[in-house]
Amino acid sequence: MAKLLEVNNLETRFKARSGYLYAVNGVSFSLEKGEMLGVVGESGCGKSVTMMSLIKLLPPSAQITNGTVILDGKDISHATTQEMNYIRGVKVGMIFQDPMTSLNPFVKIGIQLSEGLMYHKKMPKQEAMRRSAEYLDLVGISNSTERLNEYPHQLSGGMRQRVMIAMALLSEPSLVIADEPTTALDVTIQAQIVELVKDLRVKLNTSIIWITHDLSLLAGMVDRIIVMYAGLIVEEASLDEIYKDPRHPYTIGLLHSIPKVDASHGKRLPSIGGAPPNLYVKPTSCPFAPRCAFKVERCEQENPQLRDIPNIGPNSLHRVACWVDVGNRGSRA
Ligand SMILES: Nc1ncnc2c1ncn2[C@@H]1O[C@H](COP(=O)(O)OP(=O)(O)OP(=O)(O)O)[C@@H](O)[C@H]1O
Ligand SMILES: [Mg+2]
Repeated sequence: MAKLLEVNNLETRFKARSGYLYAVNGVSFSLEKGEMLGVVGESGCGKSVTMMSLIKLLPPSAQITNGTVILDGKDISHATTQEMNYIRGVKVGMIFQDPMTSLNPFVKIGIQLSEGLMYHKKMPKQEAMRRSAEYLDLVGISNSTERLNEYPHQLSGGMRQRVMIAMALLSEPSLVIADEPTTALDVTIQAQIVELVKDLRVKLNTSIIWITHDLSLLAGMVDRIIVMYAGLIVEEASLDEIYKDPRHPYTIGLLHSIPKVDASHGKRLPSIGGAPPNLYVKPTSCPFAPRCAFKVERCEQENPQLRDIPNIGPNSLHRVACWVDVGNRGSRA
């Protein structure tokens, strides 16, 4: 596989009343063509701001203070507004939690779907409409030609999310960022959307970044997982590795809060104790230390960098930012 995306040392902060809120604090990762990456972590850990920083979809109070982003071999860190509009319209598709943040309630679905193709790809209207209907078929919406003439409110929540997915894929982007796309949906519809995206990914060979706070959702879906805490990546590994051999105490905590199928009914799940980190100061020691059962003195003095865990095997990478070796295998022979 070839590299599609390379992110190096990304930092984003928000101007606050007195000082700054440090939302993303030096994030580096890459993505292969056709790969599906899961990004997980509890609310406020910087998942959305990291991914929105890549495409500069940020409010005016946000400042990207460091980092480079290379998409398809091109450094887009200093792209102009016009270049960014093209990137967001053609190269990177987005799916959000609430379809109504992207769909205009007063405009017919067909027009909303086709206008990007007409504007960015200079496609004639008829062709753009035909393509829009094709993509509605692809995402499992029946009577697609009639649907083009409907307004978003005429569809159910699950159907609107399917329209959003069609919209994100329509320009055949090389990357799709899905930010908690199923959180607002009920469990059955959620499972259908997950199946749909898995299926489309195989059909279209699109790279996908799937953001969620629910680690269990990623099972059987993504190739690799990034775990974030306090605007930092604290662990990165293949899906199997994360489940079989988690190395960061925070990842272990997240795994323990996943409900087991055989868990006795009504039993409360353990959640990770303690308060989320204070992001008004830049982390200089391990931000998870105050909540960590494994902490040693060093954790409160120095922030650990991501380090490779050796002997993982060919074509695989497992990185962790922790001073303590908490792996269940200790050392690998
Ligand atoms: N527009 C904003 N202005 C100020 N601070 C913000 C803004 N958007 C996000 N933040 C802060 O940046 C940090 C990271 O937020 P982010 O939205 O990336 O979290 P997240 O991991 O996506 O959480 P969630 O799971 O709730 O979506 C949080 O502390 C959040 O409060
Ligand atoms: Mg978010």
